[in-house]
Amino acid sequence: MAFDWSEFYTAQGGRGVRPTFTAGLNAWRGDAPGDAIDLGCGDGVETRHLAERGWSVLAIDSDGDVESRVLAEVGEEGAERATVRRATFETVGALPASDFIYAGFALPFCDPGHFPYLWADIRDALRPGAVFAGELFGPNDEWFGRAGMNFHDRAGVESMLTGLEVLQLVEDDHRGMSFEGPRHWHVFHIVARA
Ligand SMILES: C[S@@+](CC[C@H](N)C(=O)[O-])C[C@H]1O[C@@H](n2cnc3c(N)ncnc32)[C@H](O)[C@@H]1O
Repeated sequence: MAFDWSEFYTAQGGRGVRPTFTAGLNAWRGDAPGDAIDLGCGDGVETRHLAERGWSVLAIDSDGDVESRVLAEVGEEGAERATVRRATFETVGALPASDFIYAGFALPFCDPGHFPYLWADIRDALRPGAVFAGELFGPNDEWFGRAGMNFHDRAGVESMLTGLEVLQLVEDDHRGMSFEGPRHWHVFHIVARA
């Protein structure tokens, strides 16, 4: 089933940055703002937060209106530092070397056949000391089995993180709300350093 992301963006209106993003940003030990990627940036809240604080951000999302939505509310200086690219995870190709890669509730929507390549590209793009922060979904998630989505059990997630310093691996397996109504979430909230 295809998702109607416009309903999602509307439902998320006025949200703040997500906790995993904040944890990831706090884990970055560099002296000055660096280069970041916001994968599946959606409404662009995290992209704007970074750009307005001096980061150069590449925001990537497949949604047709991503550019106007992300840049609509960013100040002039922030807009100069934010590059928005409409692309899918399956076709975006190699990612530029970065200090912070954030993928909030987005990677599960990559086609499972392509996901290992996307994850390899993320790993390759992390500079030494760079931070990855984001979410993956587990097999108890209500959407498990939906076409075009990927899911990973804890052992799989740990294996993906091999060689990174895992700063946070919070597993959330509970019934809660989504923009579509009540659902069962099985989510890994990840922060890891290269
Ligand atoms: C659940 S939203 C999360 C958006 C944002 N990161 C947040 O935390 O609110 C998932 C986002 O991933 C994007 N997306 C879904 N599948 C994608 C794909 N295959 N390639 C690129 N972007 C995709 C959607 O357009 C949507 O904006």
